[in-house]
Amino acid sequence: MGLVFTKWAFIFLLCCSCITSIVYSVDGLHGGSKVRGVNLGGWLVIEGWIKPSLFDGIANGDMLDGTEVQLKSVKLQKYVSADNGGGMNVTVDRDAPSSWETFRLWRVSESEFQFRTNQGPFLTCDGGGCTVSATAKSPSTSEIFEVKRNEKNKVHIKIKDGPYLQATTGNQLTADYPGVPGWDDNSATFEMTIVSNNLHGDYQLANGYGHESAEDVLRRHRNSYITVEDFKFLYEHGINTVRIPVGWWIAFDPDPPSPFIGGSLEALDNAFSWAQEYDIKCIIDLHAAPGSQNGMEHSASRDGFTGWPTSPDYISKSLHVIDFLISRYAKHPALLGIELLNEPSAGTVSLDILTSYYKQGYQIVRKYSSSAYVIMCQRIGNADPLELYQADIGSTNLVLDLHFYNLFDTFFVNMSAGDNVQYIYKSREGLLQAFNNSNGPLIFVGEWVNEWDVTSGSLTDYQDFGKAQLDVYNTASFGWCYWTLKNDRDHWDFEWNIRNNYLQLGNSPNNQNIHTLGLSGLAFTLFYLPHFL
Ligand SMILES: *[C@@H]1O[C@H](CO)[C@@H](O)[C@H](O)[C@H]1NC(C)=O
Ligand SMILES: *[C@@H]1O[C@H](CO)[C@@H](O)[C@H](O)[C@H]1NC(C)=O
Ligand SMILES: *[C@@H]1O[C@H](CO)[C@@H](O)[C@H](O)[C@H]1NC(C)=O
Repeated sequence: MGLVFTKWAFIFLLCCSCITSIVYSVDGLHGGSKVRGVNLGGWLVIEGWIKPSLFDGIANGDMLDGTEVQLKSVKLQKYVSADNGGGMNVTVDRDAPSSWETFRLWRVSESEFQFRTNQGPFLTCDGGGCTVSATAKSPSTSEIFEVKRNEKNKVHIKIKDGPYLQATTGNQLTADYPGVPGWDDNSATFEMTIVSNNLHGDYQLANGYGHESAEDVLRRHRNSYITVEDFKFLYEHGINTVRIPVGWWIAFDPDPPSPFIGGSLEALDNAFSWAQEYDIKCIIDLHAAPGSQNGMEHSASRDGFTGWPTSPDYISKSLHVIDFLISRYAKHPALLGIELLNEPSAGTVSLDILTSYYKQGYQIVRKYSSSAYVIMCQRIGNADPLELYQADIGSTNLVLDLHFYNLFDTFFVNMSAGDNVQYIYKSREGLLQAFNNSNGPLIFVGEWVNEWDVTSGSLTDYQDFGKAQLDVYNTASFGWCYWTLKNDRDHWDFEWNIRNNYLQLGNSPNNQNIHTLGLSGLAFTLFYLPHFL
């Protein structure tokens, strides 16, 4: 009896160790399997729409950097205008506001601002009595205006330690209002309209709170938003990779240039340790480059301008960030690859500038690692996804990242659930096949989501949409990565989709392996059992 028990225990342990060892040897990426990844969006690069509450504590929080405002003189009933988008004196003579009458805020404090015109120059005034002009190339103290706002969104604007601005009968804007204006229809009172307030990124958060409070907010967020528990959850659902967006300031930790806040490097180090613990690989993704490569909050743009492509300094700083990241993580067992730049904008980043940057980035990664994947992202906007496929960036382990959203384009607006699914099978699959047929880098669907413009999709509709995407993106030669793990919006949230069964991943590689090994274990037992007994 004792002997029989021992034999059974031996067989049992043998099967267990066989299952465990093979499961752990599958990292999902070698031996033919591909990336099944999830993005850790909104963690080390802030996106307000993913977690709006991060901005709740900012005073005057609807006047953050990049907020677009228009100003109408209540006396003249005319709008303040920078003719031609800047370069001359400001006038107060427009009946209807458009782009010349729209100014982007640069926040100096909760009540002090600089005003940028739509072509780039700043409003300036060289002291009391001045005529305000839109001629400053870069802002300093002469461009700072103090804004006092009442509850009806009327404002008074004064120069620092000087008089209030007024709209003159000659339609000029001058800093010579005598005394302190009341809120009646006087020449120093303006109606302020906030026309857009859609940038809520790292710049807005840090500059909005100020250094000390921003440090508290970000420390708490970075320590709690993503933890080792998330890696456990991902592992249990067969996810083998995380793509981690980082901002350029990570290379200047712990004291990055103002207003950015240090500490993201420690969080990234933690992510690598947790990933290693759960046999998950990491892709580091330079999501926010200095100067901004797309003008959006997720590239930490200050005001919607795209300064990156026109500044050799920003480009070489970006390469320095790549050098920093690859030199730090090249030897880490959890590193899978580095994405050189997320979503450069086709409207502002030329293909020449981008391919030159990608080539240099590739060389830098290869200085430290012969095997780390070098990932280049397609340009967003009006660009041919094949353009980078054909560019000669590098010869080994090169990956092209395509972002597939059935969103953000009027094309999808009135599409039915069924048409969305068909679009995935026809268009997306066709595109992936076209790539398969040419001879170039591996293809990665580095961002996609189980959300669309369909407004009242049922559970089954979402399941079908998710299945279509998985069917098709599973054929991409490098694999896919869902955007994003957590989100205040349900259908964008990977965890929510999984827990509510909206996205059915099917047999995960881990589960499949456990299953196969379970069966072979059983076969082994049945085969050898007679010999032991
Ligand atoms: C701007 O206003 C000042 C003061 O009124 C005037 O001297 C100057 O000529 C104006 N400049 C332009 C370009 O109109
Ligand atoms: C979508 O459908 C609505 C209602 O039929 C229509 O008003 C709208 O113009 C359509 N939008 C687009 C982008 O096709
Ligand atoms: C592309 O090629 C891979 C590997 O050869 C294959 O598994 C996949 O099904 C192909 N994808 C498409 C869309 O043809």
